[in-house]
Amino acid sequence: MADPRADPESESESVFPREALSLCNYFESQNVDFRGKKVIELGAGTGIVGILAALQGGDVTITDLPLALEQIRGNVQANVPAGGRAQVRALSWGIDQHVFPGDYDLVLGADIVYLEPTFPLLLGTLQHLCGPHGTIYLASKMREEHGTESFFQHLLPQHFQLELAQRDEDENVNIYRARHREPRPA
Ligand SMILES: C[S@@+](CC[C@H](N)C(=O)[O-])C[C@H]1O[C@@H](n2cnc3c(N)ncnc32)[C@H](O)[C@@H]1O
Repeated sequence: MADPRADPESESESVFPREALSLCNYFESQNVDFRGKKVIELGAGTGIVGILAALQGGDVTITDLPLALEQIRGNVQANVPAGGRAQVRALSWGIDQHVFPGDYDLVLGADIVYLEPTFPLLLGTLQHLCGPHGTIYLASKMREEHGTESFFQHLLPQHFQLELAQRDEDENVNIYRARHREPRPA
């Protein structure tokens, strides 16, 4: 998996999903510091976002449903040099989150807000994983028919302090940043 950011002109034909690329580009443009940070990616798909975070010095756990893990493991092996800190584990929202600690500095997700029945499960997972002073970054195409807008406009703000960090008007992709409303006890 070559770094897709190396050739921006190829992005439109890229096999990498737009939301994941947008999130990677956002992190680069904002100089988001992953060094020494405890990071988890949800619904990772290819794992590109978590791989970027590991290459930038994060201690990263890349997660998805069990069926997706083989592809992610292959991508991690091919792209994260030995010694890089990226582990790949199964995490089904609303089911497995309590197996993971609740103190991540950064919780990341690209294109994971698209199935309405999973929204409460995803919300509970975000609430558990995000540490008291942690930050969640979610990149989503704003598809009304998938309820994506309702998740960000109604559900998430009930529990998190939410900001629109970036909007790509052409691609209709938003990047949101969320933090716990009240810092939870550590
Ligand atoms: C549209 S894909 C996005 C993949 C990747 N983040 C990207 O941007 O390319 C949604 C991902 O969420 C995962 N997913 C869907 N429902 C899930 C659930 N209930 N628990 C955990 N992961 C789930 C899928 O397996 C898939 O990898």
